[in-house]
Amino acid sequence: MLRGMNMNTPSLAIRNAQVVLPTGITATDIGIRDGKIVELARPLTGTYQDSIDARGLTALPGVIDTQVHFREPGLEHKEDLASGSLAAIAGGVTTFFEMPNTKPNTTTRELLLDKLARASGRAWADHAFFLGATTENAALLASCEDLPGFAGVKIFMGSSTGTLLVPDDDHLRAALQTGKRRVAVHAEDEPRLRMLAETVPATRPQDHPLRRDVETARLAVARLLDLVAETERHVHVLHINSADELDVMRHHPARRFVTAEVTPQHLTLHAPECYDRLGNLAVMNPPIREERHRLALWAALRDGTLTCIGSDHAPHTLEEKAKPYASAPSGMPGVQTTLPLLLNEHAEGRVSLQEIALWTAQRPAEIYQIAGKGTLAVGMDADIALCDLQKLHALEEREIRSRCGWSPWTGIPMRGWPVMTVLRGSVVFRDGEPVGTPIGKPATCGDPISNVGK
Ligand code: DOR
Repeated sequence: MLRGMNMNTPSLAIRNAQVVLPTGITATDIGIRDGKIVELARPLTGTYQDSIDARGLTALPGVIDTQVHFREPGLEHKEDLASGSLAAIAGGVTTFFEMPNTKPNTTTRELLLDKLARASGRAWADHAFFLGATTENAALLASCEDLPGFAGVKIFMGSSTGTLLVPDDDHLRAALQTGKRRVAVHAEDEPRLRMLAETVPATRPQDHPLRRDVETARLAVARLLDLVAETERHVHVLHINSADELDVMRHHPARRFVTAEVTPQHLTLHAPECYDRLGNLAVMNPPIREERHRLALWAALRDGTLTCIGSDHAPHTLEEKAKPYASAPSGMPGVQTTLPLLLNEHAEGRVSLQEIALWTAQRPAEIYQIAGKGTLAVGMDADIALCDLQKLHALEEREIRSRCGWSPWTGIPMRGWPVMTVLRGSVVFRDGEPVGTPIGKPATCGDPISNVGK
């Protein structure tokens, strides 16, 4: 069925797919030249060197995952840029934005350039990296805005994995006042986290949502948005996890400056069931909460309060996760499973393909103003996830490309899987295997615009 393609082909035709365009789902062919979509028509008028017969498949824009932790440098026993990006393309992700809590933390232009150099020739997908804010580096935070492959600044308001932290309003204000790019924020209130650490015992994973409670998240979002109103800085709030944060965001005068994302984990898992079933594997910061919060997150995606979906792929080894709850690290892998999980939601009638494209590609591109990416349209990069919507399959351990080697979703039958990933016109993953060598390049972000998704 799928034949005749090689990598780095100067021209490629993808024929007979159903194509998810911003305007609707259409039976059209896709003509690609020099990495860009040049034609959307059936039949195509141009001549193409290679051709893929994608009959029975659906073409979605390649997923742009705006939050992954790929652990390089310093924590390569969990993941590195090669293994993490291979997991990305295995899951139909063509662009990833990587977080700064590595070892050392990515807190200077030199360290960001080091990550870009490491990614060159080893990253399977296009990419950009975040610079981490500290209480000492505010003056450096605008230093990378000229660089392709710079995603923006990341602020941890509460302690999580690693040492990055901006706990108080004065330092937060200083960070927000420096530079123009949208600032990504992990919003948990550090003083409340410290208070809860002393008063709520850490005996089992079921304690996690109590030790990082809803008020911890709500308080941080409220503090952040007050500072956004004052500084008029555009921010992107990561992994929203509770109905209470949504209430703050919906009514705040700063809302035009604010975009927000949610993880597939928070959309599909709920407490206490996830902790009873998965133990420490389900522990992440901020925590998975009860069903009523999960349902509120879906409603907020639909009404635009939540702007996009990001995996927060946070791999730790099974050995690390096997420690007692109090000493086990927080985080779950997810870059390979975002699209299958959403396609399964589609198969069960809960989301449309248009919504999947919006939340995983179009909106991420709008939030970070990513050049040439986010939709299937003439002139855009040919970043495509070809999916078999009928395929019923349960993820097996041997298929996991993340070095951590596990997923919370193995063994669960899901309908709808990416079967081929195309990056700028080159087939990079097909039928469970990478094709050729890594060709990922830095993605170029731009200055933010207001009211994205509103
Ligand atoms: O659970 C988490 N894990 N939350 C974070 O904020 C960081 C991440 C990690 O890096 O492991």
